[in-house]
Amino acid sequence: KKIVIMASGNGSNFENIVKKLGNQVDIELFSENKNAYVIKRAEKLKVKTHIIDFKSYYRDEYDEKLYNLLKKQTPELIVLAGYMKLLSPKIVDKFKIINIHPSLLPAFPGVNSIKKAYNYGVKITGVTVHWVDNGIDTGKIIEQKSLKIDKGISLEKLEEKIHEIEHEIYPCVLKKLLGL
Ligand code: GRF
Repeated sequence: KKIVIMASGNGSNFENIVKKLGNQVDIELFSENKNAYVIKRAEKLKVKTHIIDFKSYYRDEYDEKLYNLLKKQTPELIVLAGYMKLLSPKIVDKFKIINIHPSLLPAFPGVNSIKKAYNYGVKITGVTVHWVDNGIDTGKIIEQKSLKIDKGISLEKLEEKIHEIEHEIYPCVLKKLLGL
């Protein structure tokens, strides 16, 4: 079984999934950002990496190249882990794709969600894993875990706690979906 993890930045979820599931499933990385730290992590972990530099192409060209690449890889599942570009409808229609989002959707979709929840002053936030459709963080919810925001907690500490939850639930959801 093969999955392709798509990531644009830091890659802590990518590394966590590779460490937890790498011996049970074939994992490849895709990034559209050649300077992303996740690529360094993949090198260290010896994970095969595909890069299409987003900035070097017109949007249509990029979408087509990405579609063809993914089609060639034929992953059972595409796993978004901090992938910061919208996927084209053609890709969304063709593949099974999941995403992890650092809030309790439908609250705080889009970017900077941890900070948005923190600044809003909600008392409970959390993490959502969902199917990807053509909207932004709108697909059917697969799993959620909530977290109480303690009084006086710093934004940095909240971010740390959210990432801990992400690292706990994303591999669990993957295991279930892949039947591992
Ligand atoms: C995570 O917070 C995830 O929920 C969001 O992007 C972030 C990626 O973090 N979609 P990392 O690159 O895995 O460290």
